[in-house]
Amino acid sequence: MATIPQHIAIVMDGNGRWATRRYLPRVAGHKRGVDALRNCVRHCGDIGVKVLTVFAFSSENWNRPPEEVSGLMELFALALGREVPQLQAEGVRIHFVGDRSTLSEKMRAGLEQAEKATAGNTRLVFNICFNYGGRWDIAQAAAKLAQAGAPITEMNLDRAMALAHVPDPDLLIRTGGEQRISNFLLWQSAYTELYFTDKLWPEFDAAAIDEAIADYALRERRFGRTSEQIAPEAPVKKAA
Ligand code: FPP
Repeated sequence: MATIPQHIAIVMDGNGRWATRRYLPRVAGHKRGVDALRNCVRHCGDIGVKVLTVFAFSSENWNRPPEEVSGLMELFALALGREVPQLQAEGVRIHFVGDRSTLSEKMRAGLEQAEKATAGNTRLVFNICFNYGGRWDIAQAAAKLAQAGAPITEMNLDRAMALAHVPDPDLLIRTGGEQRISNFLLWQSAYTELYFTDKLWPEFDAAAIDEAIADYALRERRFGRTSEQIAPEAPVKKAA
């Protein structure tokens, strides 16, 4: 298998279209999305990915039709109850990343419980971005520093970010055909390799993950340096 990225981030787009094409309600697409996510977590653990971060619900998703928002909330609650024991058995540590201040007491308790139950696991860190936005993260980190009277430096901001517990993503995948970041991991994706695919999220299976990783393995990550600095050519031997 090709070079495995340590940290993969995913924008799971296309659930709605997957359902609409089958004359199903959009929430049916989200349900299939949960199935795809379960398989994705398992596969990432199996191939040695260390961190998986997914965009489950953005700060802007509250503006969707009320029946879709309530359907998604029900699905999250159901999936949490059902999946956590299995994730626990598979050595997955769950973190929720996002603004919890506007969530209901019940929802907050559910998130905390899932985090607590899996806190001892080390095989795969699974960050679920929920009520999350990249701009929110940068603003909350700056506010934390301002409140502490700490200087606003790159290093301090980095440490105050909601994803400070993991390295930046190596690979960011977006399914569903759109080629944009949509307010996901704005700070953390400065040097992340981007991979866009037309596949809709419910169809994104283990083979599709492997394909994305194979594409990633061909990239040259320069982090602002030159090609020569990354792989200096072997010095030419002078003839004796
Ligand atoms: C985007 O597809 C998908 C979402 C807004 C929700 C993603 C959520 C899941 C896959 C469930 C995750 C569950 C847990 C427990 C973390 P879309 O609706 O924008 O699709 P469209 O672009 O085709 O309309």
